[in-house]
Amino acid sequence: MKFFIDTANLDQIREAQDLGILDGVTTNPSLMAKEGISGKEAILTHYKTICEIADGDISAEVLSTTYEEMIAEGDELAAIHPNIVVKIPMIKDGIKALKYFSDKGIKTNCTLIFSAGQALLAAKAGATYVSPFLGRLDDISVDGLNLIEEIRIIFDNYMFDTEILAASIRSPMHIINCAKIGADVVTSPLGSILNLLKHPLTDSGLAQFVADAKKMG
Ligand code: E4P
Repeated sequence: MKFFIDTANLDQIREAQDLGILDGVTTNPSLMAKEGISGKEAILTHYKTICEIADGDISAEVLSTTYEEMIAEGDELAAIHPNIVVKIPMIKDGIKALKYFSDKGIKTNCTLIFSAGQALLAAKAGATYVSPFLGRLDDISVDGLNLIEEIRIIFDNYMFDTEILAASIRSPMHIINCAKIGADVVTSPLGSILNLLKHPLTDSGLAQFVADAKKMG
């Protein structure tokens, strides 16, 4: 399973990259706004910086919602760096845009997926990734993991190349459960990735080993 970090914060991207386990980055307009990035030039420069820090696929989301605008914007984003993946919303014009970029050989990530039918349409349109938002489903008492399972079955039935990029991750248990189901990628805040490290028996065991190592001189 690939690990992406879901942030536009450069320090957190650097920290995850330094860990040596990072396979890519996802961003969205809310995450970019949180970092105070505004204006076209600043946005393009920020994506370029992210591409210079992190290896792997870097999702850059279009801000427009019509086909013509999305393809113009996506072409501009894709020109920033070969690792840019154009992130397109799951709407009717978005499906057309996914097909346009797929035909051009430009990678795409279809975002705001909340049903198996949406994932199926995005895969048919040639999306590189679909992003089911499992945390936001959990937030409204709908089982987000069930959606990941449904999409896994459908993609396996027809051997779609489209990868399941589990998004809206809220906890390390989300990551573990996605790995059990067979999500291809999980995009997570840094905190949930680091929480995978933690176990009290590791801490107490290491404290004992360190203490005993001192006795050995
Ligand atoms: C996915 O690509 C989104 O950026 C993200 O995972 C949304 O997560 P949220 O529900 O925590 O905003």
